Amino acid sequence: MMAAIEIQGLEKSYPSTFGTRRIPVLRGINLTVEPGQIYGFLGPNGAGKTTTIKCMLGLLRPDRGNIRLLGRDSNSLESRRHLGFLPENPYFYEYLTIRELLGFTGRLFGMSPAERKRRVEEVLRQVGLWGREETKLGKCSKGMIQRAGLAQALVQDPEVLILDEPFSGLDPVGRKELRDLVLSLKHSGRTIFFSSHILQDMELMVDRVAIIINGRLVREGHLDELISRSVRHYELVVEGVDEKAAARAGLSGERRDNRTIIRVETLEEVNSKIRAVQSVSGRIAAMIPVKLTLEDIFMREVGK
Ligand SMILES: Nc1ncnc2c1ncn2[C@@H]1O[C@H](COP(=O)(O)OP(=O)(O)OP(=O)(O)O)[C@@H](O)[C@H]1O
Ligand SMILES: [Mg+2]
Repeated sequence: MMAAIEIQGLEKSYPSTFGTRRIPVLRGINLTVEPGQIYGFLGPNGAGKTTTIKCMLGLLRPDRGNIRLLGRDSNSLESRRHLGFLPENPYFYEYLTIRELLGFTGRLFGMSPAERKRRVEEVLRQVGLWGREETKLGKCSKGMIQRAGLAQALVQDPEVLILDEPFSGLDPVGRKELRDLVLSLKHSGRTIFFSSHILQDMELMVDRVAIIINGRLVREGHLDELISRSVRHYELVVEGVDEKAAARAGLSGERRDNRTIIRVETLEEVNSKIRAVQSVSGRIAAMIPVKLTLEDIFMREVGK
């Protein structure tokens, strides 16, 4: 099957401040997004997410590598026709209404007035702005702006949507609404590629993720494979043992109220601690596997 997005060996550098040398920002990115997937592009600030997206859109020229969209070279006009884009900080003329913005976009794509009217109504309904289209952009909340930007990206009915940090600045309700909207776009057969520096944005919706740090992909795969499977350590919560007895039985840990919380690295150690707790007639109140978080992965990779 033809990939929706295929990036091979993408490298990009920017000139340094005084132009004396070039600073590498993308150091060989390879990734493939299958049609119909929601693909998360995750990385800390400055990792190279926006630079990658700009290369995909043809706004920046890569130093090396190639990008194919729906099987076509990303530099071809035909490939851009099937691409919708929501920029990182969408900026719209504040005196324009939402309807005017969308109508204007339809005109850019060469739609007839009748087609424009029909399409604008469709996308307004799709993003939940129907009935609010006469609002001036300057009077829109952050959530409405994101929706208007998404509606704009949808006007020409693209097969592939690229969203740069679409969740930034949204409150929990706004995030949930945007997530549902993105899922509905997936169900209508579209491919969605979106960037974020926040792990929680990825949960509950992505099919796959790539983690980019310092211009390199450090992980790629299903989110649960990448993160929640890896247990960092265990926390044993012990009750019914006073501090002195706990210390004597080799159960030193952090004391909270009348409980001791013991950090344990391996399962074998968990078992031996449980025996020690029983030998002093204590009780295990809980055993908590502490999972590897995105921050751990970031710290580990950044520290390399
Ligand atoms: N036009 C430019 N000229 C010089 N350096 C740039 C330019 N644009 C980006 N950079 C640098 O390239 C690196 C990657 O930037 P990029 O915007 O791609 O990161 P990002 O992952 O999108 O970060 P954020 O999460 O903050 O949006 C950063 O170090 C940034 O300072
Ligand atoms: Mg960015």
